[in-house]
Amino acid sequence: MQTIRYGGDYNPEQWPEETWHEDVRLMREAGVNLVSLGVFNWGIIEPAPGEYDFADLDRIIELLHEAGVGVDMGTPTASPPSWLRRAHPEIRLVDHEGRALAGGSRHGVCPSSPAYLDACANIAERLAERYGAHPAVELWHVHNEYGWANAACYCPVSTAAFQQWLADAYGDIDRLNDAWGTAFWGLVYRAFDQIEAPAIAPPGVNPALQLDWKRFSNDAHIASYRLQRDAIARHSQAPVTTNFMIPNCEDMDYWRWAKEVDVVANNHYLIAERPENHIELSMSADLARAVAGGPWMVMEHSTSAVNWQPRNLAKGPGEMRRNSLAHLARGADGLMFFQWRASRVGSEKFHSAMVPHGGTDTRVWREVVDLGGDLERLAGVAGTDVEAEVAILWDWESWWALELEWRPSEDLRYRERIEAYYTSLWKQHVTVDFAHPEADLSGYRLVIAPASYLLTAEAAKRLHGYVEGGGNLLVSYFSGIVDEHDAVHPGAHPGALRETLGLWVEEFHPLPEGAGPALDSGGRGRIWSERVRLDGAEAVGVFAEGPDAGHPALTRHRLGGGNAWYVATALDHTTGLRELLGDALDTAGVQRPTGVPEHVEIIRRGRYRFLINHTDQEVAVPGPRGVDALDGTVHTGDIPVPGGGVVITTIIEE
Ligand code: GAL
Repeated sequence: MQTIRYGGDYNPEQWPEETWHEDVRLMREAGVNLVSLGVFNWGIIEPAPGEYDFADLDRIIELLHEAGVGVDMGTPTASPPSWLRRAHPEIRLVDHEGRALAGGSRHGVCPSSPAYLDACANIAERLAERYGAHPAVELWHVHNEYGWANAACYCPVSTAAFQQWLADAYGDIDRLNDAWGTAFWGLVYRAFDQIEAPAIAPPGVNPALQLDWKRFSNDAHIASYRLQRDAIARHSQAPVTTNFMIPNCEDMDYWRWAKEVDVVANNHYLIAERPENHIELSMSADLARAVAGGPWMVMEHSTSAVNWQPRNLAKGPGEMRRNSLAHLARGADGLMFFQWRASRVGSEKFHSAMVPHGGTDTRVWREVVDLGGDLERLAGVAGTDVEAEVAILWDWESWWALELEWRPSEDLRYRERIEAYYTSLWKQHVTVDFAHPEADLSGYRLVIAPASYLLTAEAAKRLHGYVEGGGNLLVSYFSGIVDEHDAVHPGAHPGALRETLGLWVEEFHPLPEGAGPALDSGGRGRIWSERVRLDGAEAVGVFAEGPDAGHPALTRHRLGGGNAWYVATALDHTTGLRELLGDALDTAGVQRPTGVPEHVEIIRRGRYRFLINHTDQEVAVPGPRGVDALDGTVHTGDIPVPGGGVVITTIIEE
């Protein structure tokens, strides 16, 4: 039987040796079976170039191993030692404003710097040589959060690497000029070395250049990861990963990253003050599962407060458990925290941990121990799949492109629309997958494109085929507008989807801030209005007011065996989106439970059914028959779920 990995970042270098013994004893008490070691210890294990001191690490690995705690072996390259910065000042990150960043923290390095990359590959290889065959080492944790504070570097080395990346991608400078539309403002290049990184400049920097810069910067980090991964693989059979920041990192394209790791590992921190923050957590988990294409692991989340938000609210009783089990329900096979023991020193001392400053006579510790017990009983969940009938399209490139400057409205925000649709589906108890726009969508009953501003011709062709083949597609405004170089698709908007949707758009009418026009079908839009001209589609809702009064706001196009809906304004759950999605879900044949309060999460994973009650009232959730996976109770009728509680059943009969 598989196990669910449970533990956290372990930084014994911050503690005297006697504390290590207590740590290991407490880890056993809490059911910890994996810790991430050495994520930030470069300055300790390599005190001077080529001089290594592994003595403490050797001892701690043995201690953990004797206690049956596995090691997720970190490579410490997110925090380069000060000797490296001093010997090679050119490794310093140069920010968008052209400033070279000082040391004293982590991450402030150029991802393309040869001196930095050599040193990274070297320390990874030394660690792999030494520990690659150690039976405690179950996983490799390369670096930490690629792109966290150094998504892009604007130094001369990076600029030269960008030029080379472009030369490799385009081969010929005229192909680049065509693709980038450099005829505009006559920004033509005659050679690759004339191209500058898009550092601070007057407004209106070529959007195609900016998109390729994002792609290059993402690839630079991937190349840096590969160096270490390949060095490790020369000495170790253990799987290799690095921790992602889904969905809060805009800069890394995790569809691409997921192909590089053996297991997808994600860091997620609750946004404490945000209302309904558990919905954002679910979205993160669903997106992590999507890029993984199956089970994945939480590499970091928090037992309680973090230390970097404006007001770091502590989690309430039971909140950590709901959070952790929601990740598990949505496909996580590992639940790890930052961090094991709260630091006394350094910049993260007010961050929660599994062992708080107050020690073991604390609510947090008791909840940590209880969760460890639950996870042992839930071991059968590991490796099973989550099934979804609905997919939302997600594409980091569309996020990048949509939020470049000089768009029709600054209210056109990528996550704003995705979250509006995700939230409404969540509240209707519909489990969703996320999918890349060029993915095979044929297994889904309903596909939603809330923010597909950038859509390649290939993706558009696939979406068309999906609808013709009997699929249901729902597209929100300002989608299918540009190609991968931010060039408008030929003809009227939305060029990539005109035929699929059976309409064209004559004129955009972005709205002033605040509430927008009512729709005759009920509901009220925001942000956007536009003049939709039907060409095969029928109007199912009309703007009752505003610049497009009397014209279509919601349309439906029957195409082949399927349907393509279009929404020409921003609806939210309580202003028309619930009803619109309800109609689309009904047409697509997606069943939803009835009579369950909005904030009760119902997720199926394999034979398990998770009921997570985010309200403070007990609720009764209708069948199917099941056995409580934690206490063995057989549930034949409605299943009671206490306020703030979680009930997990193994289904015995559908
Ligand atoms: C993460 C990081 C950890 C720790 C944590 C605090 O972004 O990977 O090292 O800093 O945040 O919440």
